[in-house]
Amino acid sequence: MNRQTRLGILTSGGDCPGLNAVIRAVVSHATLTYDWQVFGIPYATQGLLERQMIPLHVHSFDLRGIDPLLSMGGTILGTINKGNTLACMDEIISSYQALGLDALIGIGGDGSIAILSQLALQGNWQFIAIPKTIDHDVALTERTIGFDTAVNTITDALNRLTFTAASHDRVMVVEVMGHEAGHLALHSGIAGGADVILIPEIPYSIETVCGHLAELHDRWQRKFAIVLVAEGIHPAHDANYLPHQKPSGSRGQYIADCIAKCSAYPVDTRVSVLGYIQRGGIPSALDRLTAAAFGKTAVDLIAEDQSNQMVAWQNGRVVAVPIAQVCDRSPLAVDPDGDLVQTARALGIYMGE
Ligand code: F6P
Repeated sequence: MNRQTRLGILTSGGDCPGLNAVIRAVVSHATLTYDWQVFGIPYATQGLLERQMIPLHVHSFDLRGIDPLLSMGGTILGTINKGNTLACMDEIISSYQALGLDALIGIGGDGSIAILSQLALQGNWQFIAIPKTIDHDVALTERTIGFDTAVNTITDALNRLTFTAASHDRVMVVEVMGHEAGHLALHSGIAGGADVILIPEIPYSIETVCGHLAELHDRWQRKFAIVLVAEGIHPAHDANYLPHQKPSGSRGQYIADCIAKCSAYPVDTRVSVLGYIQRGGIPSALDRLTAAAFGKTAVDLIAEDQSNQMVAWQNGRVVAVPIAQVCDRSPLAVDPDGDLVQTARALGIYMGE
């Protein structure tokens, strides 16, 4: 009798909601449909290097019969988003061999996927990637695990912040993550009713931000405002403002300071940096559905002997795209002329020039 296929799975890069739901889908499909053995590699390439693996079984995390993986944030496997992988490629490749794995599924963002794919090519591993990131900046896929939950978390925060801002007549500047992309800010800003959304892809002018706030104040008697700022915005277009104070830390604080200086009327600004709240939490139904579909397809691709492919969502379908194509592209940016930017502008939101 042939020995059972041994499938490894790991999570790499920053955590996000829905990773455990992917692990659950992979374990269920690989074991129930194909009768494979599945092993979790802790802490991504660090676990590979240290030759660590944990056998994963269907229902192995059940508590009184309840499977917590679907609704649990973070990753039960642990993850790393900084490492020295390139310096120890050969050791990782020998460790992988020593673990006796037949194939590997890696759940990661574009950086992790590129590194794992390089290892897979060099080590001749069968490798399939599943895209995850709250930033939603992986090329060639319309969905990444974790993005939808983070958008919901930010939208909920904006709902809460609106009431306190309105009660005190304040300009509330809210800083969100997203790395160098503005997807998180754009989606949640529209859903959460922001008055201004600043994203890395669209230059802004502080004079126009202040002009917009003044119009809200004078024309609509609005005594508060919500200004949503993506962490990746660059201050290049504000060179005349605070010239000796380039933002070293919070972009939100920088924008709040600029608004306080240039506002035509006295404003009381407050800053709320949402930070790691955005990475935690119970995964949304959409992230769980995507996790199920991506996990199932990744296992099927392994069964079909495919390798170096990334599972992706395109035009309402789950497809496989060669990782080489993903690596050839720049990270997915917000289209400054796209439908969502136009929608935001049509609703009176200031989005930059
Ligand atoms: O890529 C996800 C992300 O949360 C970014 O939005 C953010 O810039 C970064 O990770 C933070 O990383 P770290 O966990 O290293 O602080």
